Amino acid sequence: MLKNDLYLKALAGESVSRPPVWMMRQAGRYLPSYLKLQEKYDFFTRCETPGLVAEITCLPVDEIGPDAAILFSDILVVPRALGWEIEMKPGIGPVIDNPIASVAQAMAVNPVDAGEALGYVMEGIRATNERLSERIPLIGFAGAPWTLLCYMIEGRGSKDFSTAKAFCYAHPEAAEYLLSLLTDVIIDYLNAQVKAGVHAVQVFDSWAGLLGPDDFNTFCMPYLKRISEEVDGAPVVLFAKGAWYALERLSWRTNAAALSIDWTISPEYARKATRAGITLQGNYDPSRLLAPIPVIREQVKRMIDRFGKDHYIVNLGHGILPNIPVDHARAFVDAVKDYG
Ligand code: CP3
Repeated sequence: MLKNDLYLKALAGESVSRPPVWMMRQAGRYLPSYLKLQEKYDFFTRCETPGLVAEITCLPVDEIGPDAAILFSDILVVPRALGWEIEMKPGIGPVIDNPIASVAQAMAVNPVDAGEALGYVMEGIRATNERLSERIPLIGFAGAPWTLLCYMIEGRGSKDFSTAKAFCYAHPEAAEYLLSLLTDVIIDYLNAQVKAGVHAVQVFDSWAGLLGPDDFNTFCMPYLKRISEEVDGAPVVLFAKGAWYALERLSWRTNAAALSIDWTISPEYARKATRAGITLQGNYDPSRLLAPIPVIREQVKRMIDRFGKDHYIVNLGHGILPNIPVDHARAFVDAVKDYG
């Protein structure tokens, strides 16, 4: 039995004394304890070693005190399992060897058994749950098909992913083939994570907002819908960053328990656009964690007042930035715990 299940209660729509809080990318580069491990092991070694996964996942749990842990891993372990070599280059980010540049190359991608190919993630989940010893729930995750496709075609991060978009406009059948294949693999992968012990899963569609509403309907919506419907045994949270225009559709037409939203959306708009009863997660501007601590505390209180304490999970509107002082991150979490 979990000692603190506020996060799961909020996902189930149950009434709570205060909302739960965690931060996207909470196990990362703003933590000096993480930076020490970063010096010792390269990035994918950190992802593939269950003992390190458990240790890193628990760093923010012990140092900051959120109500949920998110597994230390990366969305790019899926393209890696499909056969791509990926390097995490300091100052650049992920760089993919031999990105997809032709229809023939796209149609040659074969699915894998994700539970098997990513067995090290399942071991990491079991090791992490042991270390957490029922203190708080563990969140599993995957990148959304569209966001993974962006990297697999572009080959690296980009402001506009125009190479990936150009490919999809020129070769819609190849795009559909890849997005469907990725959807199958992601569903498999998330179901394996649930079986291994995660309590909920979040799907990161970090580059959804690069698409207009019509392209979102083509390249994101059908696949996010399928994932939300075909993951069994745990609530699904969808984060379509930047796709404010799709909130209404996502709330009514998918099976998501919650929608995570970025900071460009007001709480009032998000509530009005989405069906009553769905849980919302977000949406503090990550840069606002650089504000003085008393300002952070005041803004967090106001944010909860505006979203309402129920059907709500306090979070950032995107990942925490590397230059955030640890005491500011802690103040964010403490402000939620002091609410009400
Ligand atoms: O939330 C957590 O603390 C769990 C771990 C986590 C990582 N990546 C660890 C990581 C999660 C949930 C992710 C998801 C992820 N990875 C996303 C979706 C969320 C988002 O931010 O939009 C994306 C787009 C990626 C791809 C990725 N991984 C990029 C673009 C980069 C380089 C930029 C950066 O953030 O440093 C990474 C590397 C990465 N993933 C790091 C960490 C802690 C930093 C590199 C390192 O530690 O050596």
